[in-house]
Amino acid sequence: MKKDFLWGGAIAANQAEGAFGRDGKGMSTADIQPFLPDASPTELNFNNLDSAGYRKFKDGVYIYPKRQGVHFYDRYKEYIDVLAEMHTQTLRLSLAWSRIFPNGDDAEPNEEALLFYDRLFAYMKEKRIEPIVTIFHYEMPLNLIDSYGGWANRKVIDLFVKYGQTVLRRYQHAVKYWIAINQINLIHKEAFASLGLLSDQAQHYEQLKFQAVHHQFVASAKLTEFAHELNPDIQMGMMLADSLTVPYSCDPADVKLNFRRNRMQFFYSDVLLRGEYPEYARTYFEDHGIKLDITESDQAVIRSHKADFLAVSYYWSNTVKAGENTMDPNTTVKNPHLKANRWGWSINASGLYFCISEYWDRYRVPMMIAENGIGYKDRLTPDGQVHDDYRIQYHREHISELQEAVREGADVFAYCSWAPFDIVSAGTAEMSKRYGFIYVDYDDEGKGSGEFYYKDSFFWYQRVIDSNGTDLSNL
Ligand code: BG6
Repeated sequence: MKKDFLWGGAIAANQAEGAFGRDGKGMSTADIQPFLPDASPTELNFNNLDSAGYRKFKDGVYIYPKRQGVHFYDRYKEYIDVLAEMHTQTLRLSLAWSRIFPNGDDAEPNEEALLFYDRLFAYMKEKRIEPIVTIFHYEMPLNLIDSYGGWANRKVIDLFVKYGQTVLRRYQHAVKYWIAINQINLIHKEAFASLGLLSDQAQHYEQLKFQAVHHQFVASAKLTEFAHELNPDIQMGMMLADSLTVPYSCDPADVKLNFRRNRMQFFYSDVLLRGEYPEYARTYFEDHGIKLDITESDQAVIRSHKADFLAVSYYWSNTVKAGENTMDPNTTVKNPHLKANRWGWSINASGLYFCISEYWDRYRVPMMIAENGIGYKDRLTPDGQVHDDYRIQYHREHISELQEAVREGADVFAYCSWAPFDIVSAGTAEMSKRYGFIYVDYDDEGKGSGEFYYKDSFFWYQRVIDSNGTDLSNL
């Protein structure tokens, strides 16, 4: 890898910080996600909430793990210390919108929150860990849902831009790499967490999602414009959760569906990296009765202020089959060649090679791996060890596929594991779905000593970092 390649990890404020309601923090979408141990994803349906579900979770009495996260707000120095001990070079983290603008539409930002991030960045600098900052990662202030209807409302563009400008201005000298919005393409999977939408808010739910993400495009482009004028050193990125699929078979119907599905996945980066709505998307909208409000000035800002780099998260790969699947990205079939973890996330390292190469060939902009990792229920031995050879294997195979893509020309400047230490899961709000190289002793109900234990993968990743990726061998 390049000499200045950054090896590190990624976390999100709402899954790590905790400190619910403290120092002026407002309520966010993440704060109402309950831990429901026996609920299936369809029962929980958190990312596809209707208004009754929303009220139930908002006003209910549940365990809400994200309200305490892993106490990163109070313990950030301990976490940064342990990352420094692993020789971590970068930490991608997000800022809590609902901490800085508790209601989303406040006249002034919450100074206490800004001071927290001042301290955090100063400490990271002392420990030589480069921050990569996501401005919005799944924790929209709840007031923006109650009073505005989430990102479907055009007014939210300005509210978000005001928040973004506040943090860009404040941290411009501490942070070079910025990502406006986490995984902007997951509109069909995460309409609540990412767009703040309720499924019964409009008759045409899909149209609502595309309108909302259009507003996110405009907001991203406006922030890119602002950042470039503010400080030319800043690099503003856009982010995709890689969702490219492979065809189930060589049946032309599978191949064609696969092509069309993938093209609609490129849509988001085509808009933000090429600067315009592609024709195939316009046809898709026409065919699906989707009418969007896109103004001349929206198009002008998108055209003139493209993102500087592409951040990609990669976990699994998906397979599509004509007849069984549709254009809905939530529909896929099982790939018989792949194994999966207990949450059904299929493991396919070569998918990372494939997507990086596809994005590079299409856009030729610098890229970073913003997230890559695997969740397991780890076992802490009585003498405080975690033998996670499965995690080492996962990262080894993925890093080596990344290196292959780089050898063939892709320009990648960072690799961030998700997550370097255990945090609360985004999808299921479990603590026991662990990703870290460092075991953090809290359980699903937030109980535990909070002690850190180094998993085997800690020592392995440390050596990967020290050797700039040349030593991926077993310990
Ligand atoms: C990514 C999200 O899509 O997946 C993270 O950006 C999330 O916030 C990660 O934690 C893993 O998902 P989960 O549900 O296992 O935590």
